[in-house]
Amino acid sequence: MSQQIDWIEVRDQAKEWILDAGEQLKKAVHSELRVESKSSPNDLVTNMDRQIEQFFIKKIHETYPGHHIVSEEGFGDVVEGEEGILWLIDPIDGTMNFVHQKRHFSISIGVYEEGVGRVALILDVMNNDLYHCVKGFGAYQNDQKLLPLEPTPLEEAVVSVNATWLNRNRRIDPEIVRPISSMCRGTRSYGSAAIELAYVACGAIDIYWSMRLAPWDVGAGLILVEEVGGVATRVNGNPLSLLSQNSLLIGNPRTHETVVTHIKKSISEGLYIQSE
Ligand code: IPD
Ligand code: CA
Ligand code: CA
Repeated sequence: MSQQIDWIEVRDQAKEWILDAGEQLKKAVHSELRVESKSSPNDLVTNMDRQIEQFFIKKIHETYPGHHIVSEEGFGDVVEGEEGILWLIDPIDGTMNFVHQKRHFSISIGVYEEGVGRVALILDVMNNDLYHCVKGFGAYQNDQKLLPLEPTPLEEAVVSVNATWLNRNRRIDPEIVRPISSMCRGTRSYGSAAIELAYVACGAIDIYWSMRLAPWDVGAGLILVEEVGGVATRVNGNPLSLLSQNSLLIGNPRTHETVVTHIKKSISEGLYIQSE
């Protein structure tokens, strides 16, 4: 099937759409937004999340009628497995940043064929940075080709982790997180998983980890990071499942291995973790 599809052409088409969607978001960001909550008061959705998702769905269904779409706001298809061509779309990743900060939000598009990542695009909207790749053809930040990831020791690594996971919570004992945060060179948190994955791909951060992400959060970033030699697993080192919610530990192979070893040791000592 892959011989019939020109993935560069798919990338070019998706690039046109994502740049158009980015312009729509730039126009909307300072206008009055309709903001609602979903699963909790802090889980936000706006009229623009819905508008952008519907924009992509219309374009994809018109242009590629056989393809299926998995997207956050529920306008996509009912997809039960990884068969065929799947588009994983987050119309706004970092909706809280979109509403509050008016920056550091992105659009994320990953295209998979039979579960294999083929095309990735992440647009950091307000910075005009488009991270993109076609599997096997290199990853790019705009026109600049990204280099293979450096094997960084944890002591020299910048680690992106949300401070939520340092608080007492259901998913991980903060005593597992704390030593990593203190051993590394520094920590960051940007509030858009897709931007954080793009930062891993371009070497701006060495590790990103989270205890729960959805397929649309990571669909593009996994392809991009893999293209530059990064490794992605659940936080306990187990493989990811593309269409489920997973924890995620992603980065250059050396730092990744150090962190997994630390987490496995913590688990063997009885600290709790729900790695999904
Ligand atoms: C969220 C962002 C955030 C991450 C959350 C995601 P959304 O996506 O990526 O950085 O910590 O887990 O749900 O809801 O803004 O699309
Ligand atoms: Ca998201
Ligand atoms: Ca979203």
